[in-house]
Amino acid sequence: MKRFEGKVVLVTGGNVGIGRATAEAFAREGAKVVVSARREVEGIAAVKRIAESGGEASFFRADVAIEADVTALVAQVIRKYGRLDVVFNNAGIEGKLGPIATLTAADFDETFGVNVRGSWLVIKHAAPHLATTKGSIVNNASVAAVVGMAGTTIYAASKGAIETLTRTAAIELIGTGVRVNAVSPGPIETDMGQRFFGTLDNMRAFASTAVPSGVTGHPEDIAEAVLYLASAEARFVVGQTLLVDGGLSSQ
Ligand SMILES: NC(=O)c1ccc[n+]([C@@H]2O[C@H](COP(=O)([O-])OP(=O)(O)OC[C@H]3O[C@@H](n4cnc5c(N)ncnc54)[C@H](OP(=O)(O)O)[C@@H]3O)[C@@H](O)[C@H]2O)c1
Repeated sequence: MKRFEGKVVLVTGGNVGIGRATAEAFAREGAKVVVSARREVEGIAAVKRIAESGGEASFFRADVAIEADVTALVAQVIRKYGRLDVVFNNAGIEGKLGPIATLTAADFDETFGVNVRGSWLVIKHAAPHLATTKGSIVNNASVAAVVGMAGTTIYAASKGAIETLTRTAAIELIGTGVRVNAVSPGPIETDMGQRFFGTLDNMRAFASTAVPSGVTGHPEDIAEAVLYLASAEARFVVGQTLLVDGGLSSQ
């Protein structure tokens, strides 16, 4: 039997990048996967890729920064599949990067609105359904929360908040049978990764000198960690943030 047979998994930001690779990995392990994000073309394409590999998936559009979208998303999942077992709370933006002096309060609110408020809203509205199935939430933080990099203040602080949200939500929800943990990626080859470093070459050059493994990571590296944290094998893992970063934070 596959690891997530009969389970329903919601992946926010599941249309591209780390979210898409994780949605595909859950589908390969037998889950019915709901891919959610704002861009529909990419969302429908992600669902098609899963269907073509023999998996089952649906796309529901939602902006996690808008509470009405999040409530509608969770309601659609329950209407279509009748249950919710796992949430990969992955949707995120790097937002405006650069020196503090060049950033505005609106930049701060935009990044925190998606990364922190959005993740919190998804937990709030999914938790009652996860309590029914004794399910699990995996948040997506970042190595940026623990390794300081100039020009990333707002993004890094938002990911630090995700680590704290993970610990506190885990303690609050474990009594209902819901486990909350986080994965914390290092530099991963996605659209965001490339935007963060300017180009893919810059990103690989950074990895060759700053990351002990000498290389960047790939979305599948994060997907494997998420599946572990969401699985029954991780039943005693509560409130943890698992760094998957090629050793960047271990130096
Ligand atoms: N790549 C890295 O090096 C790296 C490192 C550490 C952590 N991370 C984290 O990993 C997660 C995924 O990043 P990625 O690298 O895969 O980036 P990506 O390729 O830019 O994907 C970001 C995803 O989030 C979705 N999203 C953004 N804003 C949203 C909103 N308001 N509502 C719903 N969905 C939204 C995007 O879809 P739409 O635009 O269609 O909505 C997309 O699916 C993020 O939380 C990121 O911070 C990435």
